[in-house]
Amino acid sequence: GCVKAGLRGALIVLEGCDRSGKSTQCSKLVERLVQEGRQVLLMRFPDRTTPIGQMIDSYLQQTVELDDHVVHLLFSSNRWEAMRKMTELLQSGTTIIVDRYAYSGVAYSAAKGLSVDWCRQPDVGLLKPDKVLYITVSPEKAAERGQFGTERYEKLDFQQKVNNMFLYLKDPSYWQTVSGEGSIDVVHAEIYKLATQTIKESEHLPLLKLWT
Ligand code: TMP
Ligand code: MG
Repeated sequence: GCVKAGLRGALIVLEGCDRSGKSTQCSKLVERLVQEGRQVLLMRFPDRTTPIGQMIDSYLQQTVELDDHVVHLLFSSNRWEAMRKMTELLQSGTTIIVDRYAYSGVAYSAAKGLSVDWCRQPDVGLLKPDKVLYITVSPEKAAERGQFGTERYEKLDFQQKVNNMFLYLKDPSYWQTVSGEGSIDVVHAEIYKLATQTIKESEHLPLLKLWT
């Protein structure tokens, strides 16, 4: 294996709209890194397995209605409840690949009309990712991939608003845009290259906090 004493793992986030291929790419990346003998874990937000995550799940499946502010704070709480575990894992050398993070939190809520500034506040102080890989797919290409599901937010006009919010939020100092329009293997090759570079570059860097 490649477990090196004293080196921390990297926190790498994949972001993008629904149907951008994030979840497929997260799984493929983690599978490859595990095969190489690296210490790596896949996480996703929302984590629907916790009590807070179950409330979020009911909201997304449209079986309950919640005030926009309330659900925003639930999404943020759902990240906060994972911070201790994530910090310990990173410090013990495990790389964490995360499917969505605080950027989805802000982008989706702000696309509903909440202020960006208000939306950022509950996530201030979360672990800052070493790299955000933003996967882009044109609305036409996303449409070719079949119908959206029936969850809340899975509508073309809303996704376009979300995409605009992501572009507004993106911070070139640690974000990289990856075209999600190639084949699964082509997109994977690009993400793998960027992820392994990030793991190497982050080994000796301190863990930072988000939006501080
Ligand atoms: P998923 O499809 O990746 O499971 O995410 C579920 C939906 O939740 C997706 O439409 C994006 C949205 N979302 C938010 O609105 N706020 C958040 O903080 C996160 C992580 C996701
Ligand atoms: Mg989804």
